[in-house]
Formats: sequence, structure tokens, C-alpha cells
Amino acid sequence: MTISIEPMTLEDLEAVARIEKEAFEQPWSVQSFRTELIRNKMAHYLVARVGDKVAGYGGIWVIFNEAHLTTLAVGRPYRRCGVGTALLKALMKKAAELGARRISLEVRPSNHAARSLYEKFGFTIQGVRKRYYFNEDGLVMFNNNLDIDGETNDEPVS
Ligand SMILES: CC(C)(COP(=O)(O)OP(=O)(O)OC[C@H]1O[C@@H](n2cnc3c(N)ncnc32)[C@H](O)[C@@H]1OP(=O)(O)O)[C@@H](O)C(=O)NCCC(=O)NCCS
Repeated sequence: MTISIEPMTLEDLEAVARIEKEAFEQPWSVQSFRTELIRNKMAHYLVARVGDKVAGYGGIWVIFNEAHLTTLAVGRPYRRCGVGTALLKALMKKAAELGARRISLEVRPSNHAARSLYEKFGFTIQGVRKRYYFNEDGLVMFNNNLDIDGETNDEPVS
């Protein structure tokens, strides 16, 4: 399966919103993504394409030397095929290129798939945000070793 990673465009938003709805209990609206793309200068969003279909997407905010992963999701038919890995790798590279030296995210404790992916990319749990999700705490994970040449000093471990 050939996966290509490209900047998210307004034309992608319908497909992105479809994946968002199946992936999250409290999905972002198309309008939220539109605002991110048009108005948020700190925001950078990528899509993964398989053929001409959007298979997944993710985004970061970069503020000086800090990055935050705002979202990451892969459509069900494309899961467990390396799409999430390709997106996370590209987002971390982008963050490093823009000057970030560390990157954080929140994840549900019950989201074993995502936690496993993040651990492979060197993220470790650094804290807990109580009731971050309406029915669950949020684990705060960081990778503090984004490399100036991109990606991370911590190679994914399989
Ligand atoms: C988390 C998610 C993005 C992973 O995407 P993906 O394309 O399936 O991930 P990959 O195929 O690149 O898998 C990479 C690694 O992630 C972990 N992983 C992915 N799916 C998993 C699952 N169902 N169970 C356990 N580990 C899993 C594994 O470590 C996997 O490596 P392996 O296949 O060598 O075991 C995807 O499951 C998803 O969109 N989930 C719903 C949205 C979500 O929870 N986003 C994260 C919010 S914090």
C-alpha cells in the first residue's frame, strides 16, 4: 500500500470529518478544521492519502520550541497498515523543522492502540489531566528529544 503524506486542504475536510466522526466520541466539526486551516498560524495539518482517498490525518501546533499534537486519526479500513506511523513521523519531522524541540499530546488511558504507537515514537507519560475527556482523565505524554534534523532521537522500536 502506497501512502503519501500531504498538507491538508479545504477540499479534504469532508473526508476528514467522516473519519473524525468514526474515530472520536466528541468529534471536531468541519468548521473547527476550517478555522484551524485558515486562521491558526500555529497550526499545521497533514493528510495521508492512499490512491485518491484520505486514509487519515493529523495536526500539530508549534509555538516557539514546543509542539503539541492536536489530533491524529486513521479511517477504519486503513488501520494497522502503517498510516498512523507515517503521519506521526511526518508531523514530528515538521515540528522539528519549525524549531520545536519537544512535543506533547493527550491520550485516553483506555486508548491502547494510540498509546502503543506513541510509545514507539519515544513518548512517555508525564502527567494526568483530570477529566480532560468528559468521561475519562487524559494522560499527558511528551517526547523531549525532537531532533534538529527532524523526527526524534528515539528511533521507533518494534
Ligand atoms: C491510533 C491510530 C491513529 C493508529 O493508526 P494506525 O494507522 O492503525 O497505526 P499503525 O498501523 O501505524 O500502527 C503502529 C503501531 O500502533 C500500535 N497499534 C495500532 N493499532 C493498534 C491496536 N488496534 N492495538 C494495539 N496496538 C495498536 C501498534 O504498536 C502498531 O505497531 P504494530 O502494527 O507493529 O504492532 C488509529 O487506531 C486511530 O485512528 N484510532 C482512533 C483515533 C485515535 O484514537 N487517535 C489518537 C487520539 S490520541
